Amino acid sequence: MRNQGTISIQPFDMVLFGGTGDLVMRKLLPALYHQHQDGCLPEAGRILCLGRSQPDQDAYLAMAKKAAQQYLGEYFNDQDWGGFAGRIVYLKLDAQDKAAYAALADKLNELPEHVRVFYLATAPDLFAGICENLASVGLNKGGSRVVLEKPLGHDLASSQAINAQVGRYFKESQIYRIDHYLGKEAVQNLLALRFGNTLFEPLWRREWIRDVQITVTEQVGVEGRGDFYDKAGALRDMVQNHLLQLLCMVAMEPPASIDPDAVRDEKLKILRALRPFSAQDVATKTVRGQYRSGATAGKPVIGYQDESGIAQASRTETFVAMKAEIDTWRWAGVPFYLRTGKRMQERLAEIVINFREVPHSIFAMPPESQTANRLVIRLQPEESVKLYLLAKQPGDRMKLRSVHLDLDFDETFKTRRLDAYERLLMDVIRGQLTLFMRRDELDEAWKWVEPILDNWEQSDDTPKTYTAGTWGPAASSALLSRDGFCWHEEG
Ligand code: BG6
Repeated sequence: MRNQGTISIQPFDMVLFGGTGDLVMRKLLPALYHQHQDGCLPEAGRILCLGRSQPDQDAYLAMAKKAAQQYLGEYFNDQDWGGFAGRIVYLKLDAQDKAAYAALADKLNELPEHVRVFYLATAPDLFAGICENLASVGLNKGGSRVVLEKPLGHDLASSQAINAQVGRYFKESQIYRIDHYLGKEAVQNLLALRFGNTLFEPLWRREWIRDVQITVTEQVGVEGRGDFYDKAGALRDMVQNHLLQLLCMVAMEPPASIDPDAVRDEKLKILRALRPFSAQDVATKTVRGQYRSGATAGKPVIGYQDESGIAQASRTETFVAMKAEIDTWRWAGVPFYLRTGKRMQERLAEIVINFREVPHSIFAMPPESQTANRLVIRLQPEESVKLYLLAKQPGDRMKLRSVHLDLDFDETFKTRRLDAYERLLMDVIRGQLTLFMRRDELDEAWKWVEPILDNWEQSDDTPKTYTAGTWGPAASSALLSRDGFCWHEEG
């Protein structure tokens, strides 16, 4: 079924730096194609793809078509592709060559009324130069927007340096820092669930919530990105951005409106209230792991150390579990357990809210599950919300059993599921900043993870190994069992 483009989108020029790269081929062009196919893009919307490796427009389109067939699957058809390809303009351009920007400016100045979006799908060390070059031909003016892909730095200092350099040429209101997890439908549904209903908000606090678990696990390994990943690791790659953003969405106070700064101010307060980790905390409240060979999805896979691009005896973590705490009246004493890893048993992304037990049970027979009420918001592989309750098991005895109310979005709405990038790209064109990270959020997130990174770096310990295709090192379960809990899938 086609989605309806209800809000009209202004004519735009979307300029994709890194136009021949993996992100553009795998995510950005397919996202724009879907929106084109659904009739949501204005006639005049153009996509300018910049790169060096393809000689001309024909060669670029041939490359893009091949990738589109691969990544769009059943949605690809020649007719829609023909129309979509008519929007694409390829410019052979070296992003570091200042002189080349005159040609880009000429192309864009053909249609001065268009919204201009510059999407920097390149290595972050090119961001400053690109922004400077854009400014040198006046392309940072007016309605221009710049989109920055992660990783935005390696630590607080490098992130601040990138932001300061970009900030020299673009105002904060023109800068869209992408965290694609915020574009996932289920994450926005969390906002709807919390702030569109009266049911949960009164219970959304320490008096009623026992613990929160945020899990994002993948079956894939480093997928040819060994060089990058080995210098990053799971804490930088996933926790500093995606998991912390999910935590903010769960924990933030109700914003006064959905306006970008109203939401981002509330997220920032949570990041500032995260309890800092001391050296002792790092030792007791974090677990890092690294996969060794094993099997995922029924196929044997090699260990991390044998992947290409990985340094000898690398100590990079491919798994992290940790206990975070938020020092506010609402959350004091409620642990937020975070967990992410590659080469895990399942691809799973979910937020689990475990409510407290009843203060006094009148039933002689204890239920099978000690947790009476649990809300599970699933982001992946399917999108769903499940609310677990205790009900009486049919029969002549008063035995309680856990059952759940189930909202399956695919089933309920029967509409194509938008990829996160589709939503976010359309938001950039609309000028809607709510789902993008503000500079101060990024700073706070780095400030919080840095002591962990530093402690790991200085420690003689190595990450605990785990067999590929499992739920990670045993220490991850022990982290929760010490508090009397267990991870949701094991419960
Ligand atoms: C990216 C990370 O930000 O998110 C990758 O760099 C990871 O390592 C990916 O695989 C996961 O995204 P998703 O949407 O597939 O869960």
